[in-house]
Amino acid sequence: MSGLEIRDATYLDPAIISALMSEAFGGAEKASAIGEVWDEAAVARFLSLPGVFGLIATVSGEPAGCLLARRASDEAELLSLLVREPQRRLGRGGALLDAACRRMREAGARRLYLEVGVDNLDACAFYDARGFHRAGLRPNYYRGVSGRSRDALLMVRAL
Ligand SMILES: CC(C)(COP(=O)(O)OP(=O)(O)OC[C@H]1O[C@@H](n2cnc3c(N)ncnc32)[C@H](O)[C@@H]1OP(=O)(O)O)[C@@H](O)C(=O)NCCC(=O)NCCS
Repeated sequence: MSGLEIRDATYLDPAIISALMSEAFGGAEKASAIGEVWDEAAVARFLSLPGVFGLIATVSGEPAGCLLARRASDEAELLSLLVREPQRRLGRGGALLDAACRRMREAGARRLYLEVGVDNLDACAFYDARGFHRAGLRPNYYRGVSGRSRDALLMVRAL
């Protein structure tokens, strides 16, 4: 994992985060299959909300992944987590998640929730391996650009 650094997202980062989302979730099929792309303004608005924070992972100074999360009282929600394809299965996603969990625990959160597409098998395997449990199903949670809707699993883990 040499060269990996994790830092807080700042007001300078919405363009980077939006570009990473577009690469990971972009394209009609991918967008309907695994996640949502937010434009730069949407990321900036989200980062300005109370309790919200973002993390950027860099490898040798280049963005390799990012995470967006929100905490309210003793509950927290993981809104987005992604690692660029060539950097996957190298512990980057786990390192981002660990850093976020530490942050949320220190701020008083006790449970972390997330939604993940039922057919996003890579992410489901990742969250299973990271101690999340299935807590429910959200029918038609994602609506892709193609109009196809997909169910999401609600997952939770203790912090
Ligand atoms: C989910 C994601 C962030 C994981 O990032 P990562 O850097 O590959 O994760 P790590 O290397 O820290 O952890 C990998 C572990 O997760 C599990 N895992 C991840 N991808 C897997 C896959 N395709 N098949 C099986 N297990 C997988 C395994 O336990 C793996 O450990 P191993 O490599 O020792 O077998 C990454 O796959 C990704 O960016 N996916 C696209 C975006 C996305 O779907 N995000 C989630 C939206 S809710």
